[in-house]
Amino acid sequence: MDKLLIQGGLPLSGEIAISGAKNAALPVLCASLLAPETLHLSNVPRLKDVSTMLRLIEQMGVAITREGVDGVLLNSLGLNNPLAPYDMVKTMRASILVLGPLLARHGEARVSLPGGCAIGARPVEQHIKGLQAMGARIHVEHGYIHAKSGAGGLRGAHIVTDMVTVTGTENLMMAAVLAEGETIIENAAREPEVVDLANCLISMGARISGAGSDKIRIHGVARLHGASHSIMADRIETGTYLCAAAATGGSIRLTRTSAACLDAVVDKLLDAGCDITAERSAITLKAPRRLKAVSIRTSPYPAFPTDMQAQFMAINCVAEGSAVIRETIFENRFMHAVELIRLGADIKIDASNAMVTGVERLEGATVMATDLRASASLVIAGLVAQGETLIERIYHLDRGYERMEEKLGQLGAQVRRLR
Ligand code: EPU
Repeated sequence: MDKLLIQGGLPLSGEIAISGAKNAALPVLCASLLAPETLHLSNVPRLKDVSTMLRLIEQMGVAITREGVDGVLLNSLGLNNPLAPYDMVKTMRASILVLGPLLARHGEARVSLPGGCAIGARPVEQHIKGLQAMGARIHVEHGYIHAKSGAGGLRGAHIVTDMVTVTGTENLMMAAVLAEGETIIENAAREPEVVDLANCLISMGARISGAGSDKIRIHGVARLHGASHSIMADRIETGTYLCAAAATGGSIRLTRTSAACLDAVVDKLLDAGCDITAERSAITLKAPRRLKAVSIRTSPYPAFPTDMQAQFMAINCVAEGSAVIRETIFENRFMHAVELIRLGADIKIDASNAMVTGVERLEGATVMATDLRASASLVIAGLVAQGETLIERIYHLDRGYERMEEKLGQLGAQVRRLR
């Protein structure tokens, strides 16, 4: 298993380009299941999760052609196998995103029920309840969700989800675009990735309004057609590099991204003492000599994202003062704390709160990545720590960060992948 060796203590400086968003690309790839014509995507990040999703839909009968560095053409005219097997779902929970599109277009789907995961139980009952409200007949047998839409196909419904769920909203929106009549999703996720998916679906002929608000209206159409769509920039990758520069006292410029969807993160970095300049498609950050600790509380968009919690824990580890980090989305998303403590951090966990008191310096050690964003926080800590930090199990990192060691290298960091 690959490891990352980081020689810490160097401030990041320079410019890199941000990749397309993983959490926008995954649902948009599934949207290709909805039309029998070609969906032409650009700015698709080269990530493990993206290749897993491509393999999954390919075995369903979707024809896939890579184009250049970040283009993909998908054609699902030959869709014939509406099955998401356990072996694939267990490696990537986002596989559940095929359920809505398969039901809508193919009238049937068999999708392995995702199990628990490192950051929480993450059930999918909201996806199932919403689809049932649209008339789907669903039962779970031998670990698989068996779903059928019935002879007349899905029909529009008024759905109020019990909690804000990102992939739940995306799944229901994709099912509703081909359903008979109008669907209203209330308490919908407002995440920018939901909007990116809606924009892609609209360019395929879907009738959707309200994406980006908590009430989305979808008027079902008989069929969708081919389209071209460029995946939005990855706001979490953007935030991660901003944190890495901030923690190391660096100065960086990120291009092919914007601060538009990052208000909560940018506000906290400003509170920490960073200087940030936002351009139309670039962000520049200049860090102070030492950051001030900042407290955060994760919540659905537009509030502070849970996917940036671990990175902020890392920067607080070396900031001046103390901060409280409150995780409200996932029940077990502090696994990185014990690893950060191995590097010398002062962190006390009490249920969903972490109290972090900044220390003057961290010291390099061997640590283990437990999930994607936890890995990112260990990279940030490793960049700050004195001496060498060896991060094990970085396959987690490869799921969501494109060529991370290469990009960090461009910013002057000493990072090496050990195979
Ligand atoms: N939930 C339920 N039942 C459901 C659905 C969700 O109880 O039917 C709960 C979850 O257990 C969780 C909360 O609701 O406690 C929110 O979960 P959500 O469904 O919004 O998460 P998700 O859609 O599975 C997406 C991202 C995650 C990100 C979360 C929250 C994708 C592919 N994944 O997950 O991204 O953390 O939204 O913003 O979009 C990551 O990129 O590292 C990552 C984990």
